[in-house]
Amino acid sequence: MDAREMKIKAAAAALEHVENGMKLGIGTGSTAEEFVRLLAEKVSGGMKVEGVPTSERTARLCLELGIPLRSLDELPELDLTIDGADELDPHLTLIKGGGGALLREKIVACASTRMIVIADETKQVDVLGAFPLPIEINPFGQVATRLAVERAAFRLGLTGEMKLRAAGEDLFYTDGGHLILDASFGRIPDAEALSRELAAIPGVVEHGLFINIASLAIIAGPAGARTLHAI
Ligand code: A5P
Repeated sequence: MDAREMKIKAAAAALEHVENGMKLGIGTGSTAEEFVRLLAEKVSGGMKVEGVPTSERTARLCLELGIPLRSLDELPELDLTIDGADELDPHLTLIKGGGGALLREKIVACASTRMIVIADETKQVDVLGAFPLPIEINPFGQVATRLAVERAAFRLGLTGEMKLRAAGEDLFYTDGGHLILDASFGRIPDAEALSRELAAIPGVVEHGLFINIASLAIIAGPAGARTLHAI
């Protein structure tokens, strides 16, 4: 089974949690897009749902496939968000933001009663951090913010390369007009401590650690999809 087939398996298992009439947060990334394609089939078969997309990219795909969309201001309380992740640990703490949508993803997930993560088994880790942590920062004062992030990380014993994300020759800008600093810490043994430190830096808009947000993970491997609860 290749990576795409595993993503489709996870997405199909997540679709079983979607009920008629639900208000859904719809994630970003290649796994979430498989979910969008399967959801679109249900919608064309008569299922009624309303979706709040976590990025412009997801919004475009939903509109193309006929999934009714609303803004989060129109639907500020959602039943369920389905989204991918770059890494997840046994507590269902996640690293997200590889696709650059982490701020909207976190806002939407936190406005939902439940969040289900869908991923192939390559995303499962014992300790987070092999995937560079995306940190969304305001362009104003980006050099000072980066220094503050480096100092905060150092206080926690974390070092490693930090790179502003690029898009070709230019810097990458998020849907909200911010930059992304990708921090290659290698290991993040205490995600809560790092989250607190990063949240205290004014130029940090948000970071890609999702702690106590996901309630369930659906992980697909060659043998099929498994459901995991946080331990
Ligand atoms: C988007 O910003 C991310 O948080 C994605 O959810 C994450 O990068 C997973 O993407 P894939 O499903 O493409 O691996």
